[in-house]
Amino acid sequence: MEPFIYHIPTKIYFGKGQIEHLADALKPYGNKVLLVYGGGSIKKNGIYDRVTDILKENGFTYEELSGVEPNPRITTVRKGVQICKQKGIEVVLPIGGGSTIDCAKVVAAGACYDGDPWDIVQDASCVTKVLPIVTILTLSATGSEMDTFAVISDMDANDKLGTGHPLMRPMASILDPSYTETVSAYQTAAGTADIMSHIFEAYFSNVQGYMQDRMAEGLLKTCIHYGAYAVKHPDDYEARANLMWASSWAINDFLKLGKVVEWTVHPMEHELSAYYDITHGVGLAILTPHWMRYVLNDNTVKKFREYGINVWGISSDLDDYEIANKAIDQTAAYFKEMGLPSTLTEVGIGTEKLDIMAQKAASALEHAYMPLNAEQVKEIYMAAL
Ligand code: NZQ
Ligand code: ZN
Repeated sequence: MEPFIYHIPTKIYFGKGQIEHLADALKPYGNKVLLVYGGGSIKKNGIYDRVTDILKENGFTYEELSGVEPNPRITTVRKGVQICKQKGIEVVLPIGGGSTIDCAKVVAAGACYDGDPWDIVQDASCVTKVLPIVTILTLSATGSEMDTFAVISDMDANDKLGTGHPLMRPMASILDPSYTETVSAYQTAAGTADIMSHIFEAYFSNVQGYMQDRMAEGLLKTCIHYGAYAVKHPDDYEARANLMWASSWAINDFLKLGKVVEWTVHPMEHELSAYYDITHGVGLAILTPHWMRYVLNDNTVKKFREYGINVWGISSDLDDYEIANKAIDQTAAYFKEMGLPSTLTEVGIGTEKLDIMAQKAASALEHAYMPLNAEQVKEIYMAAL
């Protein structure tokens, strides 16, 4: 295990009814709030009304940035930054899934930066100060509620880039699993695939972390147990609660501390979203089994063996490759069982942009679990067509 500093300071209010703590969660940071939300789901399910009532009752004033897109755009971030600067916003309050929270994070950083917020997306070292962020999560997937990252797109340039800074980690997050009961079956499945992928990115690493990997396996089993169940039983609180807490722990740094972790499938997926605007978790579900098959070799087979035995319960009596292949097949079958597409063709992706996407993805994969060049990434895309 490598040396590390553990510091994951987000205060979590977890469970049904925790919105009652919203005023307390916001108060230390100021009275002028920027509400950030997406296309209107929070108006349909009543969360918007509840939040605005609490703000009014407790003497907060608020401005709104609405219409944050899935795969949030830099143009929307710029609007939010302008509101913050013009209105003297003191605290940023996103209510939604990862897109809304990511947008809010870069708005909060951009509000304290003199240049264009795209600079922050390209280079997190521009960040020196960030307005405090308090989140209300409505979709279990990205872990943005407890991590330092944000992913923003410039669709004109087909760029979707991740940025991250410790100051962008939310101060507090309200996680009420019942808020996710209105998430569609498709988004629930995609979210579960995303959580699993965050765990895989930390699990498949060249540095051992025995304890971290056992935690990772527990989280994966939680996703497998409850993901498909929540797809079929959207209002099952226990399923929603387990997925929500798993989403936060998959990516809040805990699993990667002490290991050397360089993500692989995420950079490959972000290119698909940048060029075709597809749902992030769907792209991951399509690519993951193909990536697994591609990197399975004599160096990695022991790790896949561990994955097969500890996560899928495959018999340890079998040969290493047999266990590994079964585990990969079961991973693919699980995504399919949740109703997710399993080919790029199904989401409208053909061969036309594979070269440029592979080239851009490969620039982040030099130090991956198994380093991949553009040609190899293209082979994985081709296998997934
Ligand atoms: O916009 P609204 O109307 O709210 O609808 C959203 C959206 O259409 C809907 N939704 C959210 N909560 C709902 C709901 N519908 C009904 N009931 C609810 N309670 O779901 C749709 C998708 O929302 P979105 O926020 O886009 O989904 P997700 O949370 O999966 O976020 C995806 C974005 O996060 C990035 C992805 O790349 C993508 O841009 N990621 C962020 C990461 C991070 N910050 O650490 C890491 C991830 O790997 C990922 O890259
Ligand atoms: Zn992800």
